Amino acid sequence: MTTILLDCDTGIDDALAILTAALSDEIDLVGVGCTWGNTDVDQAVRNTHHLLSMIGRADVPVARGAAGPLDGTTPTFSPHVHGDDGAGNVGDISHVPVVADESAAELLIRLSHEHPGTLHVVAVGPLTNLALALQADRSLPERVGHVTIMGGAALTPGNVTAAAEANIWHDPEAAQLVFEAPWEMTMVGLDVTMRSILTEEHRARLAAGGPVAQHCARILDYYFNFYTGITGRRCAGNHDALAVAVAAGLVPTTLSPVVHVEVDTSHGPSRGRTIADLRGMWADHPQVPGARHRVVLEIEPGFEDRMVDLILT
Ligand code: BDR
Ligand code: CA
Repeated sequence: MTTILLDCDTGIDDALAILTAALSDEIDLVGVGCTWGNTDVDQAVRNTHHLLSMIGRADVPVARGAAGPLDGTTPTFSPHVHGDDGAGNVGDISHVPVVADESAAELLIRLSHEHPGTLHVVAVGPLTNLALALQADRSLPERVGHVTIMGGAALTPGNVTAAAEANIWHDPEAAQLVFEAPWEMTMVGLDVTMRSILTEEHRARLAAGGPVAQHCARILDYYFNFYTGITGRRCAGNHDALAVAVAAGLVPTTLSPVVHVEVDTSHGPSRGRTIADLRGMWADHPQVPGARHRVVLEIEPGFEDRMVDLILT
């Protein structure tokens, strides 16, 4: 059983990550922190509450986090990818109230005290909430068992720019703080998430299921429209749920040796790029500070099918 705090910018693929974490018997989902990114943070909170109540898991604490990047610049969202509501413009979520007693950073710190050494933080949005938690409590990494992120691209180009993947590009300064912190991290980058592809076949199976599965089919329709412009066919990368699956050991992976990953925080064309030193020079080198990241290099195919099965149950 993996104890997971999920931090997300609840758009379409984040929704599938929440469902995977909340429905899997292998995962104890102890909280969800919301952040800005795919949509604004209040909408991310609404979308998260909506999903958890649909599956009878309103008991999971949901916390409102950062509304924009660490450096105070104005946030930008992705309505062309995820809809104005972060849920494919399905139109039934805006009534959900935004209820949150503690910030996402406070939730992370609290849960690290309640689950010392075993809490697995899975972040599938911009890393602003994690950075804020680190700034508030420098001892946090001592209590966090592991951090897995969906973000970056080690071997492929990015998606927002040629160099940068969206979650890192949104807040490179936050990402750099998170990579610098003395905790063990696994990076599930675009290299692998673009190999976990949801297709019309998956969507048709969901559309024939119950209300939750039908909701997934409707939001995926919007996501597929966006991806059609990129790939030429109706499909989408299953980015965020794959990171949850990797964290919980639900998908066999090939990992890099321990390496050092840095984020380009310059303001040039490479801003937001993740530079993973895959040469292996630092592998398991105890005297090289910062060499504590592993990058997922390969995944065994088939997780998407199992995820659809899980949502259909
Ligand atoms: C990542 O960016 C967001 O649009 C998705 O939710 C995912 O977390 C993919 O680059
Ligand atoms: Ca996301």
